[in-house]
Amino acid sequence: MVTLKDVTSNPLIQEYTHQTGEYMKFVGYTDHGLAHAEIVAQRARAVAKAAKLQPREQELAAIAGYCHDMGNFLGRTQHHYWGGLLFGQTFQSRMEPKELTTVMQAIVAHDKDEIKIPSLVAACLILADKSDVRRSRVFDGSPQNRAADIHDRLNYATTGNEFVVDSKKKTVTLKVKIDTALAPVMEYFEIFTERMEYSRKAGERLGFKFGLVINHFKLL
Ligand SMILES: [Fe+2]
Ligand SMILES: [Fe+2]
Repeated sequence: MVTLKDVTSNPLIQEYTHQTGEYMKFVGYTDHGLAHAEIVAQRARAVAKAAKLQPREQELAAIAGYCHDMGNFLGRTQHHYWGGLLFGQTFQSRMEPKELTTVMQAIVAHDKDEIKIPSLVAACLILADKSDVRRSRVFDGSPQNRAADIHDRLNYATTGNEFVVDSKKKTVTLKVKIDTALAPVMEYFEIFTERMEYSRKAGERLGFKFGLVINHFKLL
């Protein structure tokens, strides 16, 4: 059975991830390459485990988490579709159809205009993906760039990020520390409302409550 290890050591997946990292740097976005892939894979697995998904589904959540953004090198707007299709091409001869489609569908579901969470695996991936806000995602941390780009400004201002999954209380809490001298909390809300809505719905799908804590204030 294909494991996360098989996926991360696959030369095609490695290249898609690498090219995505380079392309996003080139177009001036935050990190969507290897570091993001690893964080999302690990957090998706943690959520899947806490939500008591079957061990194989936990593995699929980690795999989908790792691969969710690898389609970006083909273009940002439809990157979730590219990623899903690339995954299908790469593993169609090695995975059961049901598993393959579960991963493909979860990848596509992580970034749609209309929020639809088709499976528990997709819910785990979404919670993990939307949580990755951090200074190290910013390629150009210069004051000029931060002044011009709100995403870079907010990620740069995020000096702490903790993702707390509590299987007993059934909560997933994102605790971020923001340097308010660099970006006001209001800006954070402006940009991240949609992400938080996605996270809330993904939490609900798993029977979990999503919480957000900014600088020790519980906001959700
Ligand atoms: Fe994405
Ligand atoms: Fe992502």
